[in-house]
Amino acid sequence: MNISYYRSLILLITSIFSFSPLVHSADIEAGKTRASACQGCHGINGKSQSGHYPNLAGQRALYLENQLKAFQSGKRINPMMQSMAANLSKQEIKNISAYFASLPLEKEKNSPVVVDVIGKSKTAMCLGCHGSTARGLSSFPRLAGQQPAYLKKQLLNFKNRTRKGGPMNSIASSLSEQDIDEISTYLGNL
Ligand code: HEC
Ligand code: HEC
Repeated sequence: MNISYYRSLILLITSIFSFSPLVHSADIEAGKTRASACQGCHGINGKSQSGHYPNLAGQRALYLENQLKAFQSGKRINPMMQSMAANLSKQEIKNISAYFASLPLEKEKNSPVVVDVIGKSKTAMCLGCHGSTARGLSSFPRLAGQQPAYLKKQLLNFKNRTRKGGPMNSIASSLSEQDIDEISTYLGNL
């Protein structure tokens, strides 16, 4: 094999890489611009004002990416979110997820701290996956500070299997509705 063979081989390989639609690393600024479409429901800066809509601020980027892809594929069912996610490219999903993950979800000053001791003891088994302070870990979502009504709805969805969630279906099945109430109140107020 001569040098020109190698040269054309290298050219071929570089052209394949430069023309294939690779997803580049996340662009938070582009994510912020695209995320203006989300604030009507998820609130300004990803802080929701209603238990119908989850906070996205401070959520794990990898988890957000996975959920947006799950809405696109129909693995996770919600008509509103399925239509919102339908038009997002892979790159936009990466950018938007990194943007929301970068936003703080700090507690409002002077908000009442609800310490629900029973709820706390029932969440001990959750922290191995959801992080020692329930602020998420790797692709496991943050639960701390999430809207309590949203947490409750998702746990019921896992329990009745209208949402598929790997280990969450059997975990939620083992919880009573009262457990779910207490756990959601406790985590939402963390
Ligand atoms: C019309 C209202 C609406 C708009 C606009 C909207 N969403 Fe949502 N979103 C929802 C609802 C409702 C849910 C909860 C779905 C459920 O109950 O499973 C949700 C859930 C999500 C979730 C799952 C969060 C979690 O904790 O599992 C993600 C991620 C998400 N939305 C991202 C976005 C992004 C990104 C945009 C903008 C491109 C957006 N949403 C725009 C209503 C909306
Ligand atoms: C073995 C690991 C594991 C344990 C233990 C676990 N979870 Fe999860 N949890 C997950 C995974 C994985 C997901 C994401 C599922 C998906 O992809 O939709 C999740 C998702 C959730 C969600 C949805 C969050 C959102 O934003 O929509 C809630 C709520 C939740 N878990 C609550 C709990 C509670 C409460 C416990 C303890 C009683 C618990 N989890 C224990 C792995 C775990």
